[in-house]
Amino acid sequence: MNKVLLISGSNRDCYSYKILKEIQKNINDAKIIKLKDYNIELCRGCLFCDKNAKCIIDDDLFKVINQILENDIIVFAIPNYFGGMSGFFKNFIDRLHYMYKRSTLKDKKIIFIYVGALEDDSITMEEMTKSTHNIEKYLELSVINRYSFSSRKELDMKKIKNIISFLKS
Ligand SMILES: Cc1cc2nc3c(=O)[nH]c(=O)nc-3n(C[C@H](O)[C@H](O)[C@H](O)COP(=O)(O)O)c2cc1C
Repeated sequence: MNKVLLISGSNRDCYSYKILKEIQKNINDAKIIKLKDYNIELCRGCLFCDKNAKCIIDDDLFKVINQILENDIIVFAIPNYFGGMSGFFKNFIDRLHYMYKRSTLKDKKIIFIYVGALEDDSITMEEMTKSTHNIEKYLELSVINRYSFSSRKELDMKKIKNIISFLKS
């Protein structure tokens, strides 16, 4: 059985978190973590990681990475800010630069859940797919599915059920 880790990429407990909570209710042993509960400093841009397979900053980053490495499927819920991933989430990604050319996450199956406020969540899907494209390319992520939600609406339980069925399949 695949082990599932649900990661809220929002800096508040709102729509992204609510979606993950609903998924968690239906997936045995799936764990949720919230990036906002960890002290993840800003990437300094020093490129220490180019020569060393780690980040020079000693903070909570590896508490998150270790949990990612212990699981098989990682579901990221990511808010859309100004047509791309929020700065809060992007900083987490920037801190993964030490993984570049090291295929660290190659064996993980990734699911992206994009959350925007636009009623037409197909726009969120389009904008966010573009926004995560280079991360997928440079960190060699195997994205097995992606979903978009509109936080202007009630939780789309039909879509959440689809995610749950997909995770169980
Ligand atoms: C600074 C900022 C910029 C935003 N830009 C967009 C946007 O371009 N498109 C969009 O659909 N929603 C946008 N939103 C709305 C968020 O995507 C929305 O509040 C979403 O629910 C955030 O996820 P969360 O509820 O999990 O925090 C923006 C919100 C903020 C705070």
